[in-house]
Amino acid sequence: MKKYFVIGNPIEHSFSPKLHNYWIKENNLDSVYEKKKLNLDQLENIILEIKQKKINGINVTVPFKQEIIKYLDKLSPEATATQSVNTIYLDNNLAVGHNTDIAGFTLSLKKINFNIMNKKIFILGAGGVVPSIVYSLNKMKALQITICNRTKEKADNLKKLFSNIKIVKWGEIPEFDMIINATSIGLNNEDDINLDFSNIKNKFFYDVIYNPHETNFLKKAKNYGNKISNGEMMFIYQASAAFNLWHKVQPKISDEVIKLLNR
Ligand code: ATR
Repeated sequence: MKKYFVIGNPIEHSFSPKLHNYWIKENNLDSVYEKKKLNLDQLENIILEIKQKKINGINVTVPFKQEIIKYLDKLSPEATATQSVNTIYLDNNLAVGHNTDIAGFTLSLKKINFNIMNKKIFILGAGGVVPSIVYSLNKMKALQITICNRTKEKADNLKKLFSNIKIVKWGEIPEFDMIINATSIGLNNEDDINLDFSNIKNKFFYDVIYNPHETNFLKKAKNYGNKISNGEMMFIYQASAAFNLWHKVQPKISDEVIKLLNR
């Protein structure tokens, strides 16, 4: 039986096992996918298990997407450009790191026919998933990408990877066509971002968070008259890209699969 894991800390909240095990069953594969809470000092060992073929694939989530890189033998171009790895596999006895968050974000926008070309994008946050979002936005030819983060230095650091981004202070709101919440504010139902968007309408508000289904950020935006989307499809598409990479099967994204996330 092949073994797959999602590693992170915390990891309890992860929906990845539900999704992958559903597809594993649907495709009659002799595999199992579990979650594993790890500490920093256990990263090296789990990559060793990939090399020893005790584990066949790993998804990486917060806070290890960058930290894991030093234990890998090779990175895909997407993982190199973002310095962020969420999917690991063995290729010719080399532990390879890839990034399917990029595909996840890109496909989530394609699905709803939102065209990024020549749009002004404003991103809140500078955490683990932001390099993947910026990479995707650049590929789709966004006109301008502005980032603000509570800790400004962290946003400034992103300029080393993406020289074209603009950084503003937390609290400053530039003109935008699309705003993306990539902070962790909203993971708890009562969380609220301390920024006022009440005079903004007819724009697109996207939240990377998918659980809860509708954060206060999205609820308010909708009330003000904006289009909204949560991170559900991004999450499903990143998982399907990882699944395809490991099992060489394109899993079906049915209504049943989408429902799994809402239970
Ligand atoms: P990590 O920072 O480990 O990559 P993350 O979940 O990917 O974790 O990122 C959390 C993001 O939410 C960060 O951008 C964080 O801002 P800081 O860099 O200043 O910590 C942001 N965030 C979390 N709580 C916040 C709050 N109360 N106000 C503003 N931003 C917050």
